[in-house]
Amino acid sequence: MAVAPQRIDSSVFRFAERMRRLHASAIREILKTTQMPDVISFAGGLPAPELFPRREFAEALAEVLENEGHHALQYSVTEGLPKLREWICRYLESASGISCSADEILIVSGSQQGLDLIGKVLLDPGDAVVIENPAYLGAIQAFDAYQATYLNVETDDEGMRPDDLVRVLRSSDRKPKFIYVVPNFANPTGVTLSLERRRALLAIAREYGVPIFEDDPYGRLRYSGDPLPPLAALAHGHHVIYMSTVSKIIAPGMRVAWLVMPDHQLYDKVVPAKQAADLHTSSLTQRAVYAYARHPGRVEEHIAHMLPVYRARRDAMLSALAEHMPEGTSWTRPDGGLFLWVRTRRSVDTGAILPEAFTRKVAFVPGAPFWVNADVRNTMRLNFSNENEETIAEGIRRLGGLLRDVA
Ligand SMILES: Cc1ncc(COP(=O)(O)O)c(C=O)c1O
Repeated sequence: MAVAPQRIDSSVFRFAERMRRLHASAIREILKTTQMPDVISFAGGLPAPELFPRREFAEALAEVLENEGHHALQYSVTEGLPKLREWICRYLESASGISCSADEILIVSGSQQGLDLIGKVLLDPGDAVVIENPAYLGAIQAFDAYQATYLNVETDDEGMRPDDLVRVLRSSDRKPKFIYVVPNFANPTGVTLSLERRRALLAIAREYGVPIFEDDPYGRLRYSGDPLPPLAALAHGHHVIYMSTVSKIIAPGMRVAWLVMPDHQLYDKVVPAKQAADLHTSSLTQRAVYAYARHPGRVEEHIAHMLPVYRARRDAMLSALAEHMPEGTSWTRPDGGLFLWVRTRRSVDTGAILPEAFTRKVAFVPGAPFWVNADVRNTMRLNFSNENEETIAEGIRRLGGLLRDVA
């Protein structure tokens, strides 16, 4: 009979200083508990799996293995598949007005790797990063690994506040290395940076000589309002690092994303940093993404197919919130993306009520870990993409009941 290995509690390993602040993300831990089939989960950031283009990918993979299997299963160059990088340029130009050339694109293994690589090449221990508050937890985790410190800027319904950014830049004794921003339907708040503020942010960043790191996984998932140009499209220059991914427009399992770095000095530093991390992003999935995406109109058709489904789910969540949330609760009304952000009464600690939420078979992510340099307990992030309209309505009813009972 096999004997289960014993967990060893005392370690002979002496960990690096940088591991002090690095913990498993609270979200990933919560996600483990929400795998149970009868829990209605608003916790993950998962796209709807029924929308994955599975048949097309089966064909794309078969085509790749049949026609270019020797390359698809072989080591490859760190920068990424040239024809995919060219396709990304055409896509960015037509979809978002960003003009770039293929040699400015670095394919990365998910945007999460992009966050890590930019941290790796730019941050020394103690260096400051300007960040929205609340901010994407995965970015905080990535920059924490390089012992970053944070200058947090107030955020409201139009995103990062320029007046507060100026205050932060003026009062900081060390010039921050970059400003990290998710301008479209931010994770966790769902808030979008207005056009006026995009221009203001660029002007301030230029004036203070601080580059911007624009993380844009959700920009194409817009359900209402007019699309806004990315900062990279407005900047026309070397001041902005732009990043996006196939995770939300096609499928996250591909682990294919891209950094756009017009600054060649930066590009030339990030390439060896990636090489040291993983040599290159999977040759197979890069080729499969290209084989899928190269068909004219296909990605756009797929996005057009997803939008009404997500729009209906967002709307279902918004109307259920209006119906079931107790007085004193407020929430954002995102024009796109996958999340909205709820602020409960001050007396409610959303982390403390999570076990009771599990008992009532509903899950969310408590907001506290997303806040930087602040102890805010009465917020939560809700994901609306991964449940259908009926389960969304029922889940919000359960959550409303819970918030009423604990108030
Ligand atoms: C703002 C933001 N950046 C990056 C990522 C990571 O995306 P990827 O799947 O490309 O690693 C996410 C995922 O949720 C995100 O919300």
